[in-house]
Amino acid sequence: MLFESGRNGNVYVTAINSVSQQANLRQFDVGVIDSGVGGLAVAREIQNLDSSIQIGYFADTAVFPYGDKNSIQVADRIDFLATKFVEAGTRLLVIACNTGSSAGLTSIRRKFARASVQIVGMEPPLKPAAIHSRNKSVAVVATSGTVAGQALTNLRDRVATDTTTKFIVASGLASSIERGELTGKDLDSVLQELLNLISSDGVDSVALGCSHYSFVYEEIREVLPDGVKLFDAALPVAKRTLELWTESRSSDNVSKSFNPISVFVTGDPAGFVASVARLETAGCMIPMVSVNPVPLPIN
Ligand code: DGL
Repeated sequence: MLFESGRNGNVYVTAINSVSQQANLRQFDVGVIDSGVGGLAVAREIQNLDSSIQIGYFADTAVFPYGDKNSIQVADRIDFLATKFVEAGTRLLVIACNTGSSAGLTSIRRKFARASVQIVGMEPPLKPAAIHSRNKSVAVVATSGTVAGQALTNLRDRVATDTTTKFIVASGLASSIERGELTGKDLDSVLQELLNLISSDGVDSVALGCSHYSFVYEEIREVLPDGVKLFDAALPVAKRTLELWTESRSSDNVSKSFNPISVFVTGDPAGFVASVARLETAGCMIPMVSVNPVPLPIN
């Protein structure tokens, strides 16, 4: 066993429990993909909505961070990991990563269109942020890859035409969170930029555009002035996943047993576990996971 910690009494069972003895990928009800720990924020919401769902999770830490890579590289990784899940029989995928969805969602949807694979992507929650902005002035905080990508521009043109939308690249913030550090200069500079926009441009609604940032939701919430709204996409993405899962499964196939999330790490599994443990110590809700002891071959 690599690491074990006790429960903290939350609905999310927080023990990082047994390290599975086999790293063989098998069929899961849902396959979740992210560059690292960020997608656990989505997976924990799925597990919280239905703890019997069997979730497989790729943490692509060998290539982390996606945010600094070019979109072709990121799209290749999403394709590679999605294909692993599909080859093992998984038919419902969640790209729990805004950067990964921006770069790779269109091509994997096309690739698996005939294989009856359903794919849930993740995008910054700009739509609710724009709807709830009284000043029609919104900020999106995301990685440089997401901000540079066409997907975000398309989203803005689709859902926020009547709103001024500022994009903030939070360089380094996902990396701090990936190390399990929830404070520090990367978060401070995002907060400073947000506060500047709030005072200068009347931003009153903020969308978190990276799954890692769910883990600093409270830290950001605390410093935003009253009346400024903060939106995170983890729960909506989990709800959409549940809808698709409920529609697709047959009623005689309903299991009630609890299943921890099976994590496959492409980099160093012990490093991943150490980061998750640090996040948990810092007060983050971590779902129950079982981390495979050997890394997944990266290509
Ligand atoms: N979690 C990823 C996202 O949602 C980004 C982290 C990274 O840069 O790898 O955008």
